[in-house]
Amino acid sequence: MRTNFGAKPWFYPLPVLIVGTYNPDGTADAMNAAWGGLYDAGKVVLCLSKDHRTTANILARKDFTISFADAADTVSADYVGMVSGNSEPAKMQKAGFHTSKASTVDAPLIDELPVALECRLLKVNEDGNIISIFLLCRRPAAECCGPVWRMHPQ
Ligand SMILES: Cc1cc2nc3c(=O)[nH]c(=O)nc-3n(C[C@H](O)[C@H](O)[C@H](O)COP(=O)(O)O)c2cc1C
Repeated sequence: MRTNFGAKPWFYPLPVLIVGTYNPDGTADAMNAAWGGLYDAGKVVLCLSKDHRTTANILARKDFTISFADAADTVSADYVGMVSGNSEPAKMQKAGFHTSKASTVDAPLIDELPVALECRLLKVNEDGNIISIFLLCRRPAAECCGPVWRMHPQ
């Protein structure tokens, strides 16, 4: 016996993607994206509104990171999805996130979030969706990681 929910986008589990970019002045920004995911084996797709600071940042620098929000950082992750860098210059400080520059792209890694993809823009498709390759999947050293990551050491 199954319940019919109708045509709802209820994929499970649905990770909260945190998209990290640099603003024109070099400060970091981040936002939540639920409408995004894998696109082919080494690519990601994001459906972003045109008016987000992040969208302008990606189009300008062509680079961004995607981190995966975790339970420990729920409040910070929620904040970056509620407040725009267009109206809050101190967004990342207020979120409580700290950043370091990614190694392969011109975009910030969020220090608090353990796993991230380093992404480069490939194209914007006819619907305005951002399609990128990811150059690297980064995680902290094994001793910093939780049990899931320790199960799969590199
Ligand atoms: C859970 C959640 C998921 C979201 N997913 C998306 C999304 O997929 N696409 C989008 O354009 N905005 C999405 N948003 C909205 C942006 O994260 C939000 O407007 C953010 O403040 C934009 O920040 P920015 O202007 O600094 O880039 C989401 C927000 C939340 C809370």
